[in-house]
Amino acid sequence: MQYADITGWGKYTPPAKLSNEDLATFMDTSDEWISSRTGIKERRISHINTAHMAALAGKQALARAGVEADDIDLIIVATCTPDTLVPNTASKVQNLLGTNNSACVDLSSACTGFLYALQNATAQIRAGMINKALVIGAERMSWFVNWGVRDTAVLFGDGAGAMVLEAADNKCGLLEAKLGCDSSARDILNITNFGTDMDRYENPPGPLQIDFLGPEIFKRAVRGMGKATETVMSNANLKAEDIDLLVPHQANLRIIETLQSKLKLKDEQCMVNIQKYGNTSAATVPIALCEAVEQGKVKAGDTIMSAAFGAGLTWGAGYIKW
Ligand code: ACO
Repeated sequence: MQYADITGWGKYTPPAKLSNEDLATFMDTSDEWISSRTGIKERRISHINTAHMAALAGKQALARAGVEADDIDLIIVATCTPDTLVPNTASKVQNLLGTNNSACVDLSSACTGFLYALQNATAQIRAGMINKALVIGAERMSWFVNWGVRDTAVLFGDGAGAMVLEAADNKCGLLEAKLGCDSSARDILNITNFGTDMDRYENPPGPLQIDFLGPEIFKRAVRGMGKATETVMSNANLKAEDIDLLVPHQANLRIIETLQSKLKLKDEQCMVNIQKYGNTSAATVPIALCEAVEQGKVKAGDTIMSAAFGAGLTWGAGYIKW
């Protein structure tokens, strides 16, 4: 039996910080409203595009793994904010890494994208089809934000996180996952006027922006992530006390706290960094996992659970043996 060990991790969080106080200087909002409703204090805004952020995170992950870019068989970039649709963002990442060898694919499952990508790459390694993969979640949400709409503008940030996966004999990496999608609710969260649904000839063109029904997503997120996590825990025969760290998608602190209490986990079992970065969609999970390792919250052999939800409405959970 072959497994897919996570041997390298990296992140890129843009240096420019936009605080709640900064936002309140140009829109009708306040630190009090944003902090109490979401837990976010500041977010990062990138002046470089999604592929460049992804490549920086990828380089760090490769260096930590001690793997050359030339030896990677597959690059998956989970993103809903691609630089271009054709060619894909992953091919640009490959180019920036200075290699030509790997398969390159973008994966579009919004905030659940990284878990989908991790499962995909893990399955290919475990099936013996490839040996090494670079899995990245990267988003430039700020490019899509309509800064005139306070309901959405305060929530998002930019960044990238990356993991190197390598074939291994010992039981480690992503061992169990449950992914799904509730398409009946696909209309409650979307980026408008980006794709063949848009009327190209409308004059003036419709706005390109993030639209959603916040309270409805909130309820479905808690339900979806909770159910997926419980399923994975039951399949893997894990109890709450077996989990060393839960690394949830960082969309809203209150969603994370509700999930944490549903799963009966203590504060020290739950990774939270939404206060610093906001919602970076597919990048929240790899950034949070990378940061947890850097902070010594994760060590070899630990049991990690991750859970996410996003547009689609996609949802999922995964059990990782570190
Ligand atoms: N500053 C001040 N007031 C605001 C702001 C703001 N930035 N945004 C909205 N408001 C106002 C609204 O106009 C509304 O005012 P009204 O009652 O006078 O009409 C009021 O605040 C709404 O407040 P609440 O209903 O209490 O807001 P709620 O507690 O539902 O929080 C939020 C809203 C944060 C969006 C929440 O519903 C949420 O987090 N939902 C799920 C997460 C989510 O949707 N994430 C987006 C993407 S999901 C993903 O990760 C892909």
